[in-house]
Amino acid sequence: MAALKEMTVVTSGKLRTPAYELLDAETNLLAWKEGGRTPAELFDSWLAQADALYSIGNIKINEELLAKAPKLKVIAQASVGYDNIDVAACHARGIKVGNTPHVLAPAVADLAYGLIIDSARKIARGWQHVATGKWGERKGLGFGVDLAGKTLGIVGMGDIGSKVVKRALASDMRVIYHNRHRRVDDAALGAEYATFDELLKTADFILVTVPLTQETQGMFGSAQFAAMKDGVRFINIARGKIVDTEALYEALASKKVAYAALDVTDPEPLPGTHKLLTLDNVTVTPHIATSTVETRDAMAKLAAENILAALSGKPMPAEVKG
Ligand code: DGY
Repeated sequence: MAALKEMTVVTSGKLRTPAYELLDAETNLLAWKEGGRTPAELFDSWLAQADALYSIGNIKINEELLAKAPKLKVIAQASVGYDNIDVAACHARGIKVGNTPHVLAPAVADLAYGLIIDSARKIARGWQHVATGKWGERKGLGFGVDLAGKTLGIVGMGDIGSKVVKRALASDMRVIYHNRHRRVDDAALGAEYATFDELLKTADFILVTVPLTQETQGMFGSAQFAAMKDGVRFINIARGKIVDTEALYEALASKKVAYAALDVTDPEPLPGTHKLLTLDNVTVTPHIATSTVETRDAMAKLAAENILAALSGKPMPAEVKG
């Protein structure tokens, strides 16, 4: 195996300092230093020599890209989601894939909780009201609802979901969840297992935290919104494509869904002219669940550590196996 310093690591965009420093000290790093993506032509020339690719999730990693990178041994993405990566195609070529779970869970849980509160109390709408000079017209804003005594249904009870449970319990909510596998520690967590159908029927607030896969794409469509309680509040911090945007729009327009708070959308970015934004019962944030200094630094460090481990023939701290 070549010495680490002879291994070339390339990046699809700008690295955060903890990743830059680690990789620059240990490897032959070709890093894009401006904002946005590494320009296509330059990136292709880098891929031709790359032993490792550091992805910031802003590219599709498919057969077409892999064919340009014949020496590639590892791809480390600085995100927990990896729906932009054809993992099977990587594994077929013997390329390892890493992601950054766990380190981001508290920040994402905080944003999820914030959006749950926003969907109940219209914080963003309230600010918009004031900023547009309508403080005196409270009628236009309307009342929110309490969290206490309401049922939160979490779809996908992993690291992030379990952290949201703690926050929701602090607001005196009851928490139910649906997961592919029932968690053995659910009683200790304070959450009750429900089938997907039961959760849809019972929850006052529904939070989506499942990863985007073939199974979860379009998991929330018109049938699922119809099965929900009237006046349900719907929060998505996972991936936009898990939800049929048209069906959500209809459910919001008819007020079947009283409010939606979304950190992710389909399409993404959501154009400013999108009809979802014409509704008065939706808050959209621009996919910022992990966007804190500490969390992005921790994700960058973990992604760099994934690369260094794989290139040294050691177990990666966070490898995508499936
Ligand atoms: C993640 O880590 O998957 C976040 O959604 C950022 O893309």
